[in-house]
This record gives sequence, C-alpha cells and structure tokens, in this order.
Amino acid sequence: MNDIQKKIIELKEKNDVCILAHCYQTHDILEIADYVGDSFGLAQKAAKAPNKTIIMCGVRFMAETVKILSPEKKVLIPREEAGCPMAEQLDPEMLSQLKEKYPEHKVVAYINTTAALKTLCDVCVTSSSAVKIIKKLDAQKILFIPDCNLGDYVKKQVPEKEIKLVSGGCPTHAKLTADDVKKAKAKHPKALFLVHPECQPEVVAMADFVGSTTEIMDFAAKSDNEEFIIGTENSIVQHLGIDHPEKLFFPLSKDCVCHNMKVTTIADVLHTIEGKDGFEINIDEDERIKAKHCIDEMLRLGNG
Ligand code: 13P
Ligand code: SF4
Repeated sequence: MNDIQKKIIELKEKNDVCILAHCYQTHDILEIADYVGDSFGLAQKAAKAPNKTIIMCGVRFMAETVKILSPEKKVLIPREEAGCPMAEQLDPEMLSQLKEKYPEHKVVAYINTTAALKTLCDVCVTSSSAVKIIKKLDAQKILFIPDCNLGDYVKKQVPEKEIKLVSGGCPTHAKLTADDVKKAKAKHPKALFLVHPECQPEVVAMADFVGSTTEIMDFAAKSDNEEFIIGTENSIVQHLGIDHPEKLFFPLSKDCVCHNMKVTTIADVLHTIEGKDGFEINIDEDERIKAKHCIDEMLRLGNG
C-alpha cells in the first residue's frame, strides 16, 4: 500500500465511509475499496451498505443508483465529469415518443441510463442480469434501451420474446471489431477469447465466453487455460495480470479504454474522503421514487 492508500483506509474507518469501485477503475482504487464489482454487484451493495457516506468510484449513473436506493446517505463521486456517454444517448422526451410508438411493450432499460430516464422504465437490467430478468419478466413484448449490442445478445438468448431495439451503445466497446479478433486469434492461437456483450454482435459471435466484467474475471480465474484475449475495457487485462501472474492476458485492442472510468485517480479518492473535492449526488424526491421502481424490480427479479 502507498501513503495515499493508507490515508484513505484510515479516513474511511474514522469517517464511516464505504468505498464502492467498478472493475474498470485502476488497480490502486480496487485495493482500497470495500466492494469491487460489476454494475449488478454494485447495485446490490448499494442497497445494503450500512455506512452514512458512500464514495462511488465509477461513473455517474452508478452513483445515482446508490442515491436512488439510499436517499438518507451522502453519496459522492470523486469526479463530477465521470459520465457514461451511453447513459445520455436517450432523453425522457425521446423515450416518451418511443413509448407512444410501442404502447404494448414493457420498457427494459440497461442500468447505464440516467435517473430521469429510469422514471419512465418498467425494469432495469445489467449485463449480468439481462437474460435472466427478461426471461422472468411478465411480458411478451419488450422495448430494450439503449444498448442495441447487449439487446441483440439478449434477443438471441431469449428468442421466445419479441424484443425491439433502438440504436445506441457503448462507444468504448464499439471500437472492437471482428478484424481485431481474427488478428488476435492468429497471434495467440492457444488463447480463449472472453467478451463483454456491449461489443458488436459479430465480435460477440466469435467469443469462447460472453459475460459482464466480473463474470469475465471469474471465468479467467477458474479456467484451466493459460492464455486469454480480453474483449472489454483494458483495466480488466491489468487486474487479471496482477491477480494471476501465472497466466497470460492480451487486450483485444489497445483502444478499448473508457476515459470516463479513468478520469478518477487515487488522489481524487483521497481528496473526496478528506472533504476537499468530490461531487455530491442529489436527486429530486419525486424523480427518485419513480426511478427506484425499476431498480427494485431488477433486484427482485435478478436476486430470485
Ligand atoms: P458491467 O459492469 O455490468 O459488466 O458493465 C460494464 C460497463 O460498461 C459499465 O459501465
Ligand atoms: Fe459507459 Fe462504456 Fe464507459 Fe461503461 S465502458 S461507462 S458503458 S462508456
């Protein structure tokens, strides 16, 4: 542990702070977090965290999820500008128009959406819970927003339902191409290819395993294989390399870096816990209650 990490650990105990970190954060942040996970795991922890202050190291919609579930807590994000471009692709007016066009469809939102958009949705899903929740959902017709790549993956796993998609998605995962996969497989013929479902369908189709960030990390940890090509944000390559030095991990592309996730540094976390910096998340109570419904539904259907 370096001096900054030691100071953060000291202050979080003293000030009753819980630190949540998404897997796309840098390794030094993961080391001082109380919980590290994918979007679904973070939402579960947010619902249960006993501390009076939560620092969410990730992007803004994740901190909004914490606040929606825990309005009595102070919820901070170290850097205000850590947004998610996918979460802002649709606004409430655009979604209202889509709902008018598809009045019989239940609206399923990827959790990467703003609190305002969630007020208009029936249920949220994450990449690890989407297939399970859509299978269980009491609806035949579904409008899935905003990631058409994750939506396409779900459609193939749940062919019995009618799922409408809209065009939208993660600009970071969209950079990965089938050509990248062909080149990486030719270079590393013994490697298994693990991919996130936010990638384009032709990339997902070439995978040996498809899963969320923690599912990819768990798969690599348990697999007897020694080499892996990683088709998701490149911090996962770094974490896996540190956790399993006996195995080899190759990024599918050097360009798969989410700059929004990388804007938060360990020094920002220290300044936030010291009260010198950081951005507090506040959500209008009416909006919070309406948005909470679809997260509660996700936890109910996803946990069961
Ligand atoms: P998961 O954490 O569900 O794998 O999602 C990845 C992501 O892009 C988060 O923004
Ligand atoms: Fe958003 Fe993609 Fe970054 Fe995740 S990786 S925060 S979906 S831009």
